[in-house]
Amino acid sequence: MIDNDLLMKVDKDSEEPIYRQLIRHIKSQIESGTLGAGTRLPASRDLAQMLSISRISVVNAYAELRAAGYLSARAGRGTFVNGTVDAALPHLATSNGRHNGQGERFQSYVANDRSLREMMRVASKPGVINFSMGAPPLEFFPVHHLREALNFTLDRDGSKALTYEAPEGYYPLRVAVREYVSALGINCSAEQVLITGGTQQALDLVLQTVLGEGDLLITESPTYLGVIDLARTRKQQVLGVPMNEDGMRLDILENYLIDHPVRLIYVMPNFQNPTGVVMPLHRRRQLLALAHQYNVTILEDGVYHELRFEGEPLPPLKALDEHGIVIHASGYTKNLMPGMRIGYVIANNFHHERLVRVKTTADVSTPGLNQRAIHLLLERGVLARQLERNNRELRRRRDVAAMAASRHLPKGTTWNIPSGGLYLWIKLPEDGPSAAELYLSAVENGVAYAIGSVFYPDGDGKYHLRINFGAHKPQDIEEGFRRLGKAWREIAQHYAGMEKAHLL
Ligand SMILES: Cc1ncc(COP(=O)(O)O)c(C=O)c1O
Repeated sequence: MIDNDLLMKVDKDSEEPIYRQLIRHIKSQIESGTLGAGTRLPASRDLAQMLSISRISVVNAYAELRAAGYLSARAGRGTFVNGTVDAALPHLATSNGRHNGQGERFQSYVANDRSLREMMRVASKPGVINFSMGAPPLEFFPVHHLREALNFTLDRDGSKALTYEAPEGYYPLRVAVREYVSALGINCSAEQVLITGGTQQALDLVLQTVLGEGDLLITESPTYLGVIDLARTRKQQVLGVPMNEDGMRLDILENYLIDHPVRLIYVMPNFQNPTGVVMPLHRRRQLLALAHQYNVTILEDGVYHELRFEGEPLPPLKALDEHGIVIHASGYTKNLMPGMRIGYVIANNFHHERLVRVKTTADVSTPGLNQRAIHLLLERGVLARQLERNNRELRRRRDVAAMAASRHLPKGTTWNIPSGGLYLWIKLPEDGPSAAELYLSAVENGVAYAIGSVFYPDGDGKYHLRINFGAHKPQDIEEGFRRLGKAWREIAQHYAGMEKAHLL
């Protein structure tokens, strides 16, 4: 009786994810011959019910076992045990590595919620239009210019480009960053620029130097999930301040500042991730005044600053900072190539010295070859040309996404119309499935998104989802929204009478 063979004790408190426990169990049953070749396994929904686990865990386990050759799916008939499996074993061992950085980050953030954590895994199924990531489109990357820059660098600098670089960064790049940010209104010296491994490392260094264990980080709510992740890794508390259409609510912030010993506020004034909100000039000034009054450092994340396709440019907080209280972090990742991992952080001398110390301990130096190549791309005007072209295309994709949303998403759904950045921030109607409940059906229909609740430090945002329209070609955007609308209608039809736990 196959159901008995699949019965197992699931340890929900274990470090090992539930789908991995299930994989182990099914594998051992197959290897011991208890589940023979040709045996039909229960449908994922039924096995989930039998074991009182979420359906996503079963879907993931079956997918891994299929990829490893233990199982195969026969259209319309179900999932069956295969005959021989040995050749496929190495595939199983490496299958974790298929996920992109954003997926990995997502997974570690939701470590306390196994269902959500496992959801991201199914989005990598072939054929799924995956709107969940934070990456710019591959076709934007100036591959040809990079190849030339790398060759030129190696010819010019030889092995100097391949040894340890100065911990603060390749000096000509630090000068180029200073020039680049001065065009945005930030006045600093090249000595205040520290080159980092992407913006992510810049944020991490600041959290490590300004805060200690147990300290409080204030963020917008919702906020960039990578920063929530970082703070939790560093054992810091995150307190989210609600936003309105102008960004962080300063009345609520001030109440927090009165009541709590706050040292650091993290904000994205331009094209906030995930909401796309731009903080207007008056609020930027008020935020600076408040931070100064309460003696708090501001960490400004400018990574989307130049992905602007509409509206007038606004000065970064760092450009308005009269008291040296803003640390500005950004990078040539969203606007050039994330994989080169070149970011920077600009801070006053006190913070700068401490940041360099922590950075040196973290990774000794940022790869010199990458720094030199990016330096050349900046010098040759590649970034400026890219931005102009890319932003035109992002605007076109934004329009396609907004049209597709109104065509395919259910009545009562709302979304922003961002004037920059990569994301549409969508809220589903509250009388239907939440973003998490919709997720599996969406992936089965061939579309994936980022579930909104992961962007809230307190897990709010049940009905929100984030769509990266920027990363997809217009025809895929349209098709992705069509699939999303279809998935929603499939669930919504029977939603009232459904057992909700098994939607996940
Ligand atoms: C707001 C924000 N900051 C920082 C990062 C990390 O960027 P980088 O690739 O430069 O490390 C991201 C990536 O998604 C982001 O959205």
